[in-house]
Amino acid sequence: MSIQTQGNTLTFASIDGDAGLKAALAMSRADIIDTVADSGMKGRGGAGFPTGMKWNFAGAQKGDKKYVICNADEGEPGTFKDRVILTDFADLVFAGMTIAGRAIGAKEGIVYLRGEYTYLRSSLNAVIKKRRTAGLLGTDVGGVKGFDFDIIVALGAGAYICGEETALIESLEGFRGEPRNRPPFPVVAGYRYAPTIVNNVETLASAACIFAKGVDWFKSFGTDRSTGFKLFSISGDCAKPGVYEFPFGITVADLLKEVGGDDAKAVQIGGASGTCVPRAQFARQMAFEDIPTGGSVMVFGAQRDMLAVAQNFLEFFVDESCGQCTPCRVGNTKMLEAAEQLKEGTCSAEYIAELRELSGTMQVASKCGLGQTSSNAFMSILEHFGDEIMSRPAQAETARTPA
Ligand SMILES: Cc1cc2nc3c(=O)[nH]c(=O)nc-3n(C[C@H](O)[C@H](O)[C@H](O)COP(=O)(O)O)c2cc1C
Ligand code: SF4
Repeated sequence: MSIQTQGNTLTFASIDGDAGLKAALAMSRADIIDTVADSGMKGRGGAGFPTGMKWNFAGAQKGDKKYVICNADEGEPGTFKDRVILTDFADLVFAGMTIAGRAIGAKEGIVYLRGEYTYLRSSLNAVIKKRRTAGLLGTDVGGVKGFDFDIIVALGAGAYICGEETALIESLEGFRGEPRNRPPFPVVAGYRYAPTIVNNVETLASAACIFAKGVDWFKSFGTDRSTGFKLFSISGDCAKPGVYEFPFGITVADLLKEVGGDDAKAVQIGGASGTCVPRAQFARQMAFEDIPTGGSVMVFGAQRDMLAVAQNFLEFFVDESCGQCTPCRVGNTKMLEAAEQLKEGTCSAEYIAELRELSGTMQVASKCGLGQTSSNAFMSILEHFGDEIMSRPAQAETARTPA
């Protein structure tokens, strides 16, 4: 199944990933890492960690038991671009994983595939088989003596938290998917406590592009601090939802023009854990230096009830919190209760001030990115749509401050 890319041709379609692999295999391991570092590429999974730096940390570790993990969990609400890449450009992803394996000195690669994408397993395995037959996986990959690298596909079971890299590793090891304490980071002690890089599907496909077309070509897209192009999953109140490619640095307004969402009153960028950007800020850029994003863009038209949007996100986080730490487990529940009280018109202004403090505590005291970011959307919706929310008619007699 292929998702419509709305006539927006993806650069991935024009890239020969195996030419990239061949070019990389002609380099030393250190040069491969330097090339990725020179490209300035930052991870496409959302956090924007520099890919060259991650590969360098893992490459510097001793030992020959290392792993390359492709994070294909894609659980962030509103994100579906990795599904397109895995469907149409699996060779690029596998070429990128193989280049990463060569760079860090790993022999094994694992694709951690979102449970809901189980239907993709057979096509991915068919591509892997084809690559083994072509000598692009297995022993002496690409004719390079002593470079053995193979890839397997492992399935998740539908938990959002298993997209977080250390919970993903726990899940791969057969344990409950709960984030680990860090340090040590996965590049030092990851899967089976061996050095491991976890990269997003798009990051790995883009790495193959860098070797196929060169660093200068890659840097000709995007901004100085956010190099390259990015895939965006665009949904909601727009005429042409779908997967689009834009260079980093595109403004929210220009993106909305392309997708037929000019009338939007707000755009949620970065999924449920991202930020709600109101119309007054549509001149802002999609880039790590302004609005960082893994690519989820939800467009909200004038008729949308922004409190209902916030409530929906909070319900998601209450369900998906792994429950390990109190600020996240209790904090999200308190946030949801407040959203429900706001809906009834029974939440006091004093309590909203307390929620802001709670949000700050969740950001600093939660163990992983879920709890650290889950209040962002609610807080930004309260900030930008406070008048809309507070002017709702009260459904109960008096405002109350919950215990
Ligand atoms: C709750 C949570 C869910 C995440 N889900 C994903 C995901 O589905 N896919 C992904 O690539 N990264 C996800 N991440 C980020 C990963 O932990 C990690 O940063 C990423 O895979 C690194 O890849 P990159 O450097 O190529 O971006 C998630 C993080 C958190 C906190
Ligand atoms: S922040 Fe939330 S999801 Fe992350 S470890 Fe704590 S309870 Fe689990």
